[in-house]
Amino acid sequence: MENQDKVLALIGYTRKNGNTQALLEDYLKEFAQDKEVDLVDLNALDFKGCIHCDGCLKEPFCRLRDDFSPIYQKIEEANHLVFASPVYFNGVTWLLKKSIDRMQVYFSNPRDWQGKKSACLLLTAGAKPYPDQFTTSYLEGQITLKTLGYSTFTCIQVGDTDRRPYEAGFLRKEAIKIDGINRRKGNQWELIE
Ligand SMILES: Cc1cc2nc3c(=O)[nH]c(=O)nc-3n(C[C@H](O)[C@H](O)[C@H](O)COP(=O)(O)O)c2cc1C
Repeated sequence: MENQDKVLALIGYTRKNGNTQALLEDYLKEFAQDKEVDLVDLNALDFKGCIHCDGCLKEPFCRLRDDFSPIYQKIEEANHLVFASPVYFNGVTWLLKKSIDRMQVYFSNPRDWQGKKSACLLLTAGAKPYPDQFTTSYLEGQITLKTLGYSTFTCIQVGDTDRRPYEAGFLRKEAIKIDGINRRKGNQWELIE
């Protein structure tokens, strides 16, 4: 167990058994079978977003003490980080955004990260495809995961869930381009970038 890769998944969805949970479960099944997985349900935590106290400019840690405090160690120890969120008003949910903002401590105190292997952002959205449906949430995830030392960033996007919910089993490792944006299109995965 000691030398096993650690996957930390920050769960940003607000309802259980929805599209994003099903997508996350498939992702973990395909990509994390041989790894130790730690799921953090952000909705079960009582925590604040960043309040810009600038404490982390004076000391290399976050001064807020709440349920997010123990998550920092998990973030530091993880080799693989997964964010899972529905799109809410074009961005990630408030749960994930609050967590992202708490990572300001790493932006203020850049680290020489070691062992950070892969980062992934899982997104679902309800509406039919429209321009920039995933752009804001993608950028929010990308800047954060880069700040945490991840150079590979895979984004998996499933839109149109109002009409066509995410079907369990649709995500297959062999159809996904690592370090790219993969979007459900019809019965396939389309590589956006
Ligand atoms: C507050 C709120 C805002 C939403 N905003 C968007 C949006 O901007 N674009 C979109 O395509 N879908 C939007 N949706 C739809 C959800 O992204 C979609 O239903 C998603 O798949 C829900 O994930 P879940 O099943 O895991 O809860 C929104 C839903 C809610 C509740």
